[in-house]
Amino acid sequence: MKVSIIGGGGLVGSSAGFALQCGGVVREIALLDVNQDLAAGQALDLLHGGPSTADQIIRSGGYEQIPDSDVVCITAGLRRKPDESRLDLINRNTDLFLSILGDVAKAGVKESATVLVVSNPVDILTYVAADRLGLPKSRVLGLGTQLDTIRFRSFIARQVGAAPTQVAALILGEHGDSMVPIWSSATVGGLPLDKFPGWTHTTANDVFTRTKGSGAEVIAKKGGAGFAVGIAIRDVIESIALDSKRLLPVSTVQDGLYDIRDVALSVPTVVGRNGAADRLQIDLWPKEVQSLRKSGLVLRQTLETVLKRIGRA
Ligand code: LAC
Repeated sequence: MKVSIIGGGGLVGSSAGFALQCGGVVREIALLDVNQDLAAGQALDLLHGGPSTADQIIRSGGYEQIPDSDVVCITAGLRRKPDESRLDLINRNTDLFLSILGDVAKAGVKESATVLVVSNPVDILTYVAADRLGLPKSRVLGLGTQLDTIRFRSFIARQVGAAPTQVAALILGEHGDSMVPIWSSATVGGLPLDKFPGWTHTTANDVFTRTKGSGAEVIAKKGGAGFAVGIAIRDVIESIALDSKRLLPVSTVQDGLYDIRDVALSVPTVVGRNGAADRLQIDLWPKEVQSLRKSGLVLRQTLETVLKRIGRA
């Protein structure tokens, strides 16, 4: 299983490379970047850690790496300013992203490959990638709210003093301001979160607000997310590599689940060797479903602007 990471020189791409190296599941990791020296430096640094991590092939290179890649992960893009929303980024990032998609398409993606979009605004760019690459829609995933979901779980764990891996909770919808916390299914060690001593509406609101603002908070404090986004990427790629069929909140083009269509956003998605093997519509609280639909509408508005701009509407 070969993974190529476009933007592999940057913080997000190199963190994903490191997370995949520590995971030890994939066979080959290739880092691609417009800054070839930076990608080569990151690959060299990873290579040095090989003897104490996993027996993998680590390399840097250009688009010649794409045709035999099983996963093409696109992390390249301009980063948000702390006070800029992810959707504002679209104006700056679309052209760059389209040129990357053009290069990927020209290189030729394997028929069985999955494309994982991480660049922001991820839901918009996931739709654009699915539209442009001509792959089955199930093979184009966006990292979506997997990152928000692990952030959410980490804050809940700290709030109730629980082990983070025992917190099950979910964020769906847009990876952005309209993301939706799914409180109806939140548990700790299999027990309902809202029954935990000290858990109140206020703590719930605080935890969600901190989660939603986490991307901006990390940008303000250290320039941008690296470690957690790398881990979130690994969650998705390892589920593809191992065909684990993990149920993950990743972004795909929707065609009617929860009455949402023609927009990409995160719903519970079964991730396996063929990308999105299935997507589930499980009953949620009515207000959660309402918020999810609203998230779809917010994204659709921006998407229409983008599609017009790139001549697809
Ligand atoms: C964040 C970026 C990766 O949320 O969107 O940190």
